[in-house]
Amino acid sequence: MTDTLPDPLRSADLRAGTRPVIRPRRLRATPALRRLTQQTRVHPAELILPMFVREGVSEPVPIGSMPGVVQHSLDSFRAELSRAARAGIGGVMLFGVPEHKDATGTGATDPDGILNVATRLAVAEVGDALVVQTDLCLDEFTDHGHCGVLDAAGRVDNDASLVRYRDMGIAQAESGSALLGLSGMMDGQVAAVRDALDAAGHTETAILGYAAKYASAFYGPFREAVGSSLQGDRRSYQLDPANRREGAREVLLDVEEGADVVMVKPAMSYLDVLADAAASSPVPVWAYQVSGEYAMVEAAAAHGWIDRERAIDETLTSIRRAGAEAVLTYWAVEAAERWARS
Ligand code: PBG
Repeated sequence: MTDTLPDPLRSADLRAGTRPVIRPRRLRATPALRRLTQQTRVHPAELILPMFVREGVSEPVPIGSMPGVVQHSLDSFRAELSRAARAGIGGVMLFGVPEHKDATGTGATDPDGILNVATRLAVAEVGDALVVQTDLCLDEFTDHGHCGVLDAAGRVDNDASLVRYRDMGIAQAESGSALLGLSGMMDGQVAAVRDALDAAGHTETAILGYAAKYASAFYGPFREAVGSSLQGDRRSYQLDPANRREGAREVLLDVEEGADVVMVKPAMSYLDVLADAAASSPVPVWAYQVSGEYAMVEAAAAHGWIDRERAIDETLTSIRRAGAEAVLTYWAVEAAERWARS
């Protein structure tokens, strides 16, 4: 603002008194005005539903800490997929819950492992309507529950984990996954899996880098959802919640390594990191509204302490407003169906 330009807000006339000239409330006066001037909208095509598929069950198993979310049997999985496709959401992100785990997570690379079986089923059922995506991480498949394999001293071995991720990537691509969600937070994972996919001829399979994934307490309910056997924590590979610049660096690294999409996770406590990523990334930026974010709203709503549907929509709008172009959310189908009715 220079002194030579007229500035209405600087005029003493306008600031003083009880008759403001600038009235932002004009555009809030009626539902039609508010609708026309709304600056952020969330479309069902921008929502992705995370789904858990459990090996060896014939009925869906409820997840206590995530009311309304289940570990699917293959039958209930199939039914929920067609509901998701009818609702018009953008895609599904699949997690496997295997019956048996071991030190290197062999179930992850076995073509008959639950995640690969579920992926083939999803691609066959809804592969044209939905982008079928898979979690590429070892934690659901390892008996120690870490996202990678361990060295002799019991530490997570970055480079040995990359070898497993490469094989897991190929197994998932061969099962038909369109987008591999690399959530393990090993250094170099995007470059390693890209190289393996390309060498195996899977040049069309895309990579979603969980670029800025923080060591968060909000993953709590997920650990129940996948029957996690983790002892300890993931702080040697996931980011410290205090670190904003480090999140920005991880985003740029994943982009350089060839990620087709980058992710910030969790969403609501990391909207600043998300806004940074949205400003700097040349590829789409998504956010994962994680299990604990879901559980908090459900629990408060169950007590009658907040308006559940308004709270859900407010969270999704906030994440979208901060810069996410798509959101992974356990409410994806419910929200899409509800918005279609309203
Ligand atoms: C790791 C993974 C986790 C989540 C998604 N992928 C858990 C973790 O890092 O401990 C959490 C998702 C959620 O909480 O909803 N494979």
